[in-house]
Amino acid sequence: MDTAGDSGTSMAQVSLTALAVASARAAETRRPDRLFDDALAQHFIAAAGPDVPFTAGPAESTGPDGAARPGLEPLGDYVAIRTRFFDDFFTEAASAGCRQAVILAAGLDTRAFRLDWPAGTRVFELDMPELVAFKERVLTERAAHPVAERVVVPVDLRTDWPAALLAAGLDADQPTAWLAEGLLPYLTPADADRLLAGISRLSPAGSRLAVEHIDPALFAHPRVRRTNEEIGFPADQLIQGGPGRPPRRWLAEQGWHATAFTVAERARAYGRAVPPIFDPAGPDPVAGDNLVSATRVG
Ligand SMILES: C[S@@+](CC[C@H](N)C(=O)[O-])C[C@H]1O[C@@H](n2cnc3c(N)ncnc32)[C@H](O)[C@@H]1O
Repeated sequence: MDTAGDSGTSMAQVSLTALAVASARAAETRRPDRLFDDALAQHFIAAAGPDVPFTAGPAESTGPDGAARPGLEPLGDYVAIRTRFFDDFFTEAASAGCRQAVILAAGLDTRAFRLDWPAGTRVFELDMPELVAFKERVLTERAAHPVAERVVVPVDLRTDWPAALLAAGLDADQPTAWLAEGLLPYLTPADADRLLAGISRLSPAGSRLAVEHIDPALFAHPRVRRTNEEIGFPADQLIQGGPGRPPRRWLAEQGWHATAFTVAERARAYGRAVPPIFDPAGPDPVAGDNLVSATRVG
């Protein structure tokens, strides 16, 4: 499933990152002190088998297939922390009245199945067609039933995805809670700007938006580079930089009032060790204001 786009990004490779994140969520789900319960994650990993090259967190020595998988050690529990942050974002948006959620680049996200959505909520999931096909196959095999009404939109987010989303039933007159998790670094600054313009056009007052911001310095960090080389993750090919400016400024430019949380602050709030790479007390930390939520101004 190699559909290299203008940027040269291979979607097959990017989708491997969705498996890596699901692998970290499966590992978190096995912990007694888990920050969430993603019971479906292990089934995606089992279905992918040896295609999962690594886990996006601490090393897993006991994957579902029994194989050892190296982990992105410098990231520690980062995926679990970010998952919990965005879970809480959707819960708060629902309490505030949002009955539409759009998960951009949803990957193997299972929030439509595992969060406590109010009746009448519609959850739209957008991702590349190849990734969607794999996900739907596994969900059908597991006879999984979503809590919310779930609408899947196979689309490349560098194309006219707003048209596809409207055709799939999004009501642009109603407030929506949007999420871009694990996506922005794979977009060029121009594609990220276009993405935000599309979100903003479809967002009346009362809408909310959460994004994961990754400082490009993360991928240049010697510890992360070393790990990427060990696991064969082609970050140099995949990472396109994202918005290229601080997230609050980027969001304010298009009418969003944002609050950014550091990974260290959220880790402590959830009772977890601060991931080494984001630990301000550690050697050579990367800026950790990754977890951002915003409301529509006006
Ligand atoms: C790191 S994964 C994150 C998936 C999910 N948000 C999560 O946190 O589990 C990146 C996802 O972005 C998707 N993706 C990357 N570029 C995309 C694009 N241009 N259009 C649609 N999806 C894209 C990939 O297919 C993949 O599922």
